[in-house]
Amino acid sequence: MHKKYNAKIAGMGHYHPSKILNNYDLEKIVDTTDEWIRTRTGMFERRIAADDEASSDLALKASEMALQNAGIRAKDIDLIIVGTVTPDHAFPATGCILQHKLGIKNNCPAFDLSAGCTGFIYASDIARQYIENGVYKNILVVAVEILTRIVNWKDRNTCVLFGDAAGAAVISRAERSDISHFFDSVIFSDGAYGDLLIQQAGGSKYPASKSTVRKNQHTIYMEGNKIFKLAIKSMAGACEVVMKRNNLDIKDVDWLIPHQANLRIIEGVGKKLKMDKEKVIINIEKYGNTSASTIPCALSEAVEINQIRRGDMVMTVAFGAGLTSGSMIFRY
Ligand code: UT7
Repeated sequence: MHKKYNAKIAGMGHYHPSKILNNYDLEKIVDTTDEWIRTRTGMFERRIAADDEASSDLALKASEMALQNAGIRAKDIDLIIVGTVTPDHAFPATGCILQHKLGIKNNCPAFDLSAGCTGFIYASDIARQYIENGVYKNILVVAVEILTRIVNWKDRNTCVLFGDAAGAAVISRAERSDISHFFDSVIFSDGAYGDLLIQQAGGSKYPASKSTVRKNQHTIYMEGNKIFKLAIKSMAGACEVVMKRNNLDIKDVDWLIPHQANLRIIEGVGKKLKMDKEKVIINIEKYGNTSASTIPCALSEAVEINQIRRGDMVMTVAFGAGLTSGSMIFRY
């Protein structure tokens, strides 16, 4: 595809709520153990949003950090895309609410995108193409989740897994002299597996009723084991597609940032791709699965501690509700 311009990540931001829920706390809530959670998932702690925090509040904090790191003002944003499955409301879009909270009055478009845990890669894929085609110069991509509001705290199969967080990226037009730029991204979905990970009620199919509440249909339903088997194959597959399309080898990649759903999945993907273990970014122990937010948060933290530096080659990959998957490669 002919590109007019290159797109780059100009700045990253992240926000984790301060309240911590660890595995020992969970032992008091459901029939589980620290040992089971650690060995089956790699998780130890997760963050819980405060009662007065909505997704747009978490998104605001991550966005402010990303704008500051990119060195641009909120009014210079041309488009806002928010990847989330836990928006403030069904409508208006959390992107529009975030636009207002950032004080942006330039009438820029803003919308939400539902791609589950692949939300950041989907949103970045769209942003990249708007920049490369010359339509926009600065796009704010945010992935935010308050999953702890939609977990069933009586279901040990799911409630131990999820946490709350926001990650943000300012994706901008790169100058010719910039070392940072996107190579490519790929996104996929297979709707045949939609029922494996679903919040059944609250939409047009099963509007909220006493019955939907009684049956816990407003909370996350997941067939974890079936998803586990599909995850490694499709994540490694997405990476292989994007590398092949760009004549890149795993040795060209400095850092792999996989979606943080399960340490065993992360290790399985790394192994399948033959990636050195030290080059795989992992923070699942601290935050659990924060869906779309895991990748931008991990990238932002790695940049903050100078682990990932300008010019490093980064590959990210995710898998989530839909079932969706995707991967992208960029020079940070
Ligand atoms: O974010 C994107 C989408 N999500 C994912 O990618 C998640 C993918 N799936 C997974 O990560 C894993 O399947 C889980 C972590 C969810 C579950 O691990 P598993 O090794 O697949 O366990 P399982 O579901 O096969 O359950 C094994 C046993 C069961 O007991 P029985 O039937 O063997 O007696 C469960 O009831 O573990 C039991 N179990 C638990 N035990 C203690 C399930 N959850 C817990 C728990 N504590 N929290």
